[in-house]
Amino acid sequence: MPLSNKKLSLILAFINFFLLACSEQLNASSGIPPVAYQAKALLAWKAGFDNQSQSVVASWKGNSPCSKWIGISCSRGGNVIRISLTSYGLRGKLHDLNFSSLPNLLKIDLFNNSIYGTIPQEIGKLKYLMYLELARNGLTGKIPDSVGDLRNLRVIQLYENQLSGHIPPTLGNLTMLDSLFLHLNFLSGSIPSELGKLKNLAYLRLSSNNLTGTLPLEFNNLTRLVAFRMSENLLTGPLPDNICAGGLLEKFTVPNNRFTGPVPRSLKNCTSLYRLRLDGNQLTGDISEAFGVYPHLNYVDLSRNKFYGKVSSNWGLCKNLTSLRISDNNMSGQISPELGKATLLVELDLSRNHLVGGIPNSLANLASLLELLLHDNKLSGDIPPDIAKLPNLANLNLGNNNLSGLIPKNLAMCRHLLNLNLSQNCIRGRIPSEIGSLQSLQYLDLSWNLLTGEVPKVLGGLRSLETLNISHNELNGSIKSTFELMQSLISVDISYNQLEGPLPDTKAFREAPVAALEKNKGLCGNIIGLDKCPGIQHDEGKQKQHRKLFILILLSLLAVPIFLYISALIVYYLHHRARNLKTKATIEDTNLFTIWSYDSKIVYEEIVRATDNFNADHCIGTGGSGSVYKAHFPSGQNWAIKRLHAPEDEMLPDLKSFTNEIRTLTSIKHRNIVKLYGFCSKPQQSFLIYEFLERGSLSNILNNQKIAANFEWIQRLNVIKDVVSGLSYMHHDCKPSIIHRDLSSKNILLDSNSVAHISDFGTARFLKPNSSNWTSFAGTYGYSAPELAYTMNVDEKCDVYSFGILAMEVIMGRHPGDLVSSLSTSSARSFQSSVDETLVKDVVDQRLPSPKTHVAEEMVYIIKIALACLHLIPQCRPTFRQVSLQLSKRRPPLQTAFHMITLSQLLDPRRDQSLH
Ligand SMILES: *[C@@H]1O[C@H](CO)[C@@H](O)[C@H](O)[C@H]1NC(C)=O
Ligand SMILES: *[C@@H]1O[C@H](CO)[C@@H](O)[C@H](O)[C@H]1NC(C)=O
Ligand SMILES: *[C@@H]1O[C@H](CO)[C@@H](O)[C@H](O)[C@H]1NC(C)=O
Ligand SMILES: *[C@@H]1O[C@H](CO)[C@@H](O)[C@H](O)[C@H]1NC(C)=O
Ligand SMILES: *[C@@H]1O[C@H](CO)[C@@H](O)[C@H](O)[C@H]1NC(C)=O
Ligand SMILES: *[C@@H]1O[C@H](CO)[C@@H](O)[C@H](O)[C@H]1NC(C)=O
Ligand SMILES: *[C@@H]1O[C@H](CO)[C@@H](O)[C@H](O)[C@H]1NC(C)=O
Repeated sequence: MPLSNKKLSLILAFINFFLLACSEQLNASSGIPPVAYQAKALLAWKAGFDNQSQSVVASWKGNSPCSKWIGISCSRGGNVIRISLTSYGLRGKLHDLNFSSLPNLLKIDLFNNSIYGTIPQEIGKLKYLMYLELARNGLTGKIPDSVGDLRNLRVIQLYENQLSGHIPPTLGNLTMLDSLFLHLNFLSGSIPSELGKLKNLAYLRLSSNNLTGTLPLEFNNLTRLVAFRMSENLLTGPLPDNICAGGLLEKFTVPNNRFTGPVPRSLKNCTSLYRLRLDGNQLTGDISEAFGVYPHLNYVDLSRNKFYGKVSSNWGLCKNLTSLRISDNNMSGQISPELGKATLLVELDLSRNHLVGGIPNSLANLASLLELLLHDNKLSGDIPPDIAKLPNLANLNLGNNNLSGLIPKNLAMCRHLLNLNLSQNCIRGRIPSEIGSLQSLQYLDLSWNLLTGEVPKVLGGLRSLETLNISHNELNGSIKSTFELMQSLISVDISYNQLEGPLPDTKAFREAPVAALEKNKGLCGNIIGLDKCPGIQHDEGKQKQHRKLFILILLSLLAVPIFLYISALIVYYLHHRARNLKTKATIEDTNLFTIWSYDSKIVYEEIVRATDNFNADHCIGTGGSGSVYKAHFPSGQNWAIKRLHAPEDEMLPDLKSFTNEIRTLTSIKHRNIVKLYGFCSKPQQSFLIYEFLERGSLSNILNNQKIAANFEWIQRLNVIKDVVSGLSYMHHDCKPSIIHRDLSSKNILLDSNSVAHISDFGTARFLKPNSSNWTSFAGTYGYSAPELAYTMNVDEKCDVYSFGILAMEVIMGRHPGDLVSSLSTSSARSFQSSVDETLVKDVVDQRLPSPKTHVAEEMVYIIKIALACLHLIPQCRPTFRQVSLQLSKRRPPLQTAFHMITLSQLLDPRRDQSLH
């Protein structure tokens, strides 16, 4: 990747050189309109911008564009040759720009604005244009044929628009073209064979379109190719055999298409390869000998194809390889011990094949390995005890093989293990008590083995465990005291064992289905389908009462000395801290760095590297308390790094909001709340490390026309329910309860399954019963409850109000500002004015087809709840517990057809009494 970026910048430098060199020539050539005409054309274009964009280019006035017009560069001869307006938020159309008046343009760069409408045919008049950069805008319609007339073009960047239609074959005439980036559009049809004539083409990226048909044979003639990227299309047929004929190919990524046939022959010798992705196709053939040794190779994924043969030992000789994935194929034979030589491997996934033999001991040399997935094969023999030497292993799945022997005791040395799956093997013996020391473990599956004996008590020490499956073994004994310690447990399956005695009194067991507990020797508890425990209930109650009384007496006896002791501690602490603060300011490098689960120093350096030292290119969002960066690791793993803004008046970061967030987040574990992995606090460099959620913020989704149009009603309603579930947990299940204080669509993040997670607790505080002295205003304008204008009393009802706004935003596809202001201008409840007869169907997001049947029912119900949450009087808003309860109830079908329901109907106080 770094190499290709370098090349691209070389090309740009080359173009810039040309921009100057050509300018005098242009001036000399005849027929160029006087500069006043050029000014006029730009001013006419500006006049079509919306008001705000016009103010951005306020410097465009008069008739001398070459003097201080923002974004405009001129030749020495005084002609406009370059328009460079990257990321100015411009909203306007290209059609308003008279290209005939600006024939000497060499470069148009409007990257990342809101340019909409089509690309006009007249663009073909820019005979000298070398650089056309219109990526990340809202362009629609076809790419005009006339682009093929721009014979000097080096670079075309049109990605992330909404362009449709076919790729024009005329592009084949652009013999100078070096880069063609059309990814993330709606392009359809097949790829024109004329593109094979682009003999200078180095970078071709057509990913994420709707392209069909086969790749043109003529691609075999592209000998300058450096990157060839076609992922996520509907392409069929074989891959071009000579794709690496030029020997320059670094990236060949074609995943998730319908390609068939063998691996291109030229790849075997292609020593320049850096990244190779063929996954998710229907490629076939014996790949035992299809690949060579690639010194630069960093990433390979061949998963989900129909490959067979042996896993080549050559992969072990690719010294820079960090990721090797060949899962879901028909690979057979043994795992080559040579793989243990690729010592930089971070991920090794050979799962779902027909591999036999033992797990080679040499894999223990892969010290960087985070993920080892060998499940669903036919591997046999013991689990090599040296696997435990893998100090960074986070994910180990050996499930569904024929492994035998014991669970190695020194697995306990994999201190960072998050997931451990040894299920469906023939593993014998006891569960070693050492497993109890895996403090990071979140998922443990030992089911369907031959394990015997008692579950060791120390397993209760798995404080992070969320899923536990030990079903289908021969385990015996009582589990109550052990499992009661696992408070983080969410899902449990202990069925088909010989366990007995009372069930642990934890949420996971109380809510477990009977199937997860059945077929044991004698489990008892308050669960339908299980026997009640004889006598125990009663006795325990009494014991508890006694214990309470005893503690009460003890406490009253100890109250005075404890008070004195605590006071002394506080005085000491404050004194000490004052001293510490003084020294801290002088020592620049005070390192308060902590990362859970990973080697902190390495992770710190990797994060700085992965974000290019927090370069703006990696920034994916900015909020009140900091900016969020996407850190992509060579392993393919992504993390979200939130770097906190340093307050302007001091050197130290905003530690208050920082520690606040950490305290809040670490105490929370919930499906709908963003997970925090670690944090770093140094002077001038404080950041939090979160799970990365692929789909980004709700706000971005709703604001992106293309994505919003595919964000379906069911998904939207589920997002709303997810938010309710997360907030209900924060308000009612956390002790002390937590108020978010800054709920907005920017703070709701979606994962790849569109499950919503609440993020950004920078302003959340613990709701202590008696503290009402909030010092500063928190919240995002447009979401904060109206009472915050006159009181600083923040309580749960402020979150309820923000939720109401958020829910309406999800349904309307935009912020419900105007609707809410008409709500509040009428009196608190009468609301009989302008909105009175507004139909619900006209309010909901028009980018989606009108909802039908039960979706419509559910939506109407949710709107009703959302409007109740927007009540001006905080006390009249429902709590999240009430909302959550309402959402879980069955509802009668609608009385009125969806398209006839008005908003005022949903506000009728008699109708929503049930919510209060
Ligand atoms: C744009 O500005 C003009 C004059 O300043 C004003 O008359 C017009 O209403 C504004 N348009 C919008 C959409 O705000
Ligand atoms: C060419 O450049 C000269 C000054 O260098 C200028 O006076 C003249 O107007 C330019 N010609 C055109 C056609 O722009
Ligand atoms: C390429 O340009 C020639 C004119 O130079 C034109 O006749 C031809 O149609 C163009 N080819 C394509 C494929 O558009
Ligand atoms: C992509 O093509 C498929 C079938 O060819 C079609 O059903 C689908 O609507 C297309 N999607 C887009 C976004 O054009
Ligand atoms: C490749 O280019 C050669 C000439 O450079 C041409 O003769 C041949 O037809 C081209 N092959 C394909 C498949 O286009
Ligand atoms: C691989 O390289 C060798 C020597 O460089 C060459 O003889 C052979 O033809 C090449 N094979 C392929 C398939 O390109
Ligand atoms: C291997 O990776 C390292 C670190 O990323 C890099 O410095 C080195 O140049 C790479 N080696 C090759 C042959 O690409």
